[in-house]
Amino acid sequence: MNVVVLLGAPGAGKGTQAPLLAARLGIPVIATGDLFRAAVRDGTPLGMEARRYMDAGQLVPDEITVKLLLERISRPDAKAGVILDGFPRTAVQAAALDEALAGRREQVSAAVLVDVPTEELVRRMSGRWICRGAGHPYHETSSPPRLEGVCDLDGSELYQRVDDRPETIRARMDQQLGALEQVIEHYRVARVLRTVNGLQDITIVADAIDAALADAGVTPVVAGQG
Ligand code: AP5
Ligand code: MG
Repeated sequence: MNVVVLLGAPGAGKGTQAPLLAARLGIPVIATGDLFRAAVRDGTPLGMEARRYMDAGQLVPDEITVKLLLERISRPDAKAGVILDGFPRTAVQAAALDEALAGRREQVSAAVLVDVPTEELVRRMSGRWICRGAGHPYHETSSPPRLEGVCDLDGSELYQRVDDRPETIRARMDQQLGALEQVIEHYRVARVLRTVNGLQDITIVADAIDAALADAGVTPVVAGQG
């Protein structure tokens, strides 16, 4: 089972790279931010609770997030492996994931940090549009859709996230980067951390992620295996 963790600050490009990588590796993406946004859209109790934190740029409490993620990775489609986008975000979440995987005699195969300087993160989030269908991200200047306002991949409408307002972008940086450092350290100690330069074209970042994964021994899933 390949368990690949994509790490990076808000706006680093995790959500851009995750579906591309999923297609190459043949395993699904699980993005906690997308799961929370779906719950908000559906107006579930989980969504209403999560929204209070998301709109303020804060992390949703570990207890809620860990439960959601562990339920999701226990489903059949995650059997051969998963790409985690946006989880773990705290040391507590990283430990909970390790424990759940150890229960299945598995472990995180690689944690790839997409490294991008803070000034660029702000530029990326301010110009971001995402699709209502599956959350595919676009950017006004660096990655525009072929047809304005429409997702290239699933044809759904594009919108701007509430938490991409300038004041919330600042709050996300202030409140989340410290915890990210702890998660990076967790995987450095576990010797599965790989870092790629995220300040390059999307396709070049994708190639760098492939090289980092090959170095960590992660190879595509062959149909029928896993
Ligand atoms: P989440 O949805 O995970 O947001 P995030 O981590 O803040 O990351 P983003 O989605 O903003 O950025 P990204 O790295 O995916 O970048 P993207 O590819 O879109 O979480 C949202 C909220 O949910 C959190 O704030 C928190 O409240 C809650 N939450 C989620 N998970 C949680 C957890 N585990 N624990 C607790 N709370 C949790 O790219 C950004 C832009 O840049 C796009 O416009 C894109 O087109 C562009 N771009 C991408 N790559 C490039 C490139 N190489 N060159 C130029 N432009 C690029
Ligand atoms: Mg994202």
